[in-house]
Amino acid sequence: MLTDNITRDGNGNLFFANHNVAELAQQYGTPLYLMDEERIRGNCRMYLRAFAECFGTQALPLYASKANSFKQIYRIMKEEGMGVDTVSLGEIHTALEAGFPADRIFYHGDGKTEAEIAAALDRRVGYFIVDNETELRRVDCGARNRGMVQKVLLRVTPGIDPHTYEAVNTGSVDVKFGLPIETGQAMAFYRQALSCPGIEVRGLHCHVGSQVFDEDVFERTIDIMVQFMAQVKRELGHEVKELNLGGGYGVRYLDTDKPIDIPARIRVLSDHLKQRCREEEIALPFFLLEPGRSIVADAGMTVYTVSSVKNIPGYKKYVTVDGGMGDNPRYCLYKSPYTVLHASKKCEGGEQFDLVGRCCESGDIIQPRVCLPGDTCPGDRIAVCTTGAYNYSMASNYNRFGRPPIVMLTPEKSYLAVRRETIEDVCSHDI
Ligand code: LLP
Repeated sequence: MLTDNITRDGNGNLFFANHNVAELAQQYGTPLYLMDEERIRGNCRMYLRAFAECFGTQALPLYASKANSFKQIYRIMKEEGMGVDTVSLGEIHTALEAGFPADRIFYHGDGKTEAEIAAALDRRVGYFIVDNETELRRVDCGARNRGMVQKVLLRVTPGIDPHTYEAVNTGSVDVKFGLPIETGQAMAFYRQALSCPGIEVRGLHCHVGSQVFDEDVFERTIDIMVQFMAQVKRELGHEVKELNLGGGYGVRYLDTDKPIDIPARIRVLSDHLKQRCREEEIALPFFLLEPGRSIVADAGMTVYTVSSVKNIPGYKKYVTVDGGMGDNPRYCLYKSPYTVLHASKKCEGGEQFDLVGRCCESGDIIQPRVCLPGDTCPGDRIAVCTTGAYNYSMASNYNRFGRPPIVMLTPEKSYLAVRRETIEDVCSHDI
């Protein structure tokens, strides 16, 4: 199986986190997001342990909550001792409502409005990751008006190609995020930040991409960032105290994807950072990463019920389910691969189907060319694996379908963390 939290018994019944998937579908209805709580906690602990081993107390992993944001996940992050990366007041509000400590919230975004900046200052978020000069001025002004000094990291672009798909490449010089080192704009940005009395410049942030598999992306990034840190020290006399390298470790969606040994990668990365800092004669900064996908992706599974099966002889066969691009737009957006499993039968001697959704457009494909048992029929349950990241958080009400609930799975029980959206919910803002 793709991950060790997915198993089958001798009768072909599929289990996720040791729970019978078809029974969960019966109990909670479909479409249904399942989240393996132990796996989320295990992934957090993997980062926390690796950070402690490599950096002692001088590092903190932040969960990038754009990957999946709902109250219970912030409670888990708080219990595990993680920080969180947020990109909107919506995420900040959700975190605070869940009791997540404001001082461990990092606030991202390239388009923060003045009102949002004010609201985040009022909520006392720990750090702003400032994207540009306009934001810098606004944060400075807002902080001074409140008699505060706001901690910030400045977002810069190192000019790295992470070799991932276009929509999630954020390292190149000309991306919309942050300011590039290469053009001198990052240095000017830093200089300006140091002149702001309402700002405490704690350090630098960069993020080069997502679903990254290249071995040396972080090392290449470190080379450029450390060189820039040394330049800041020389030219501005300022020590970069914190370095945040963003998120990005790829996860396996298919059996053929190679696994990444994240603790081993972190060890290599930390050795490299320490060595480069020694060579440039700068102090080792407090170290931050912002993993999103690698914390939650393999903790998720989506379960559907087959609505219809259609055969177009000589062309293809379709399995249509009661969800689709509304709960998982990732194939439509990025051609993302997924592993698809029947919930109660193995696929020996299976046939090829396109697994499609119920939205009113031909592009509503969850996954083309999947292998399912030839006798798959309406009422059967179908599971799509590794849907814990960027599925619920990117879900929409397209065609006015409500979004699915999220059910958490622990060894002892299953429980609802987000209830199903009703048609009344979907209609509730209309006047
Ligand atoms: N930090 C920053 C500044 C980011 O922009 C991102 C992701 C992360 C951290 C987390 O990266 P991760 O560890 O999850 O790779 N919707 C796309 C992914 C967009 C990622 C955007 N930024 C998808 O479904 O693949």
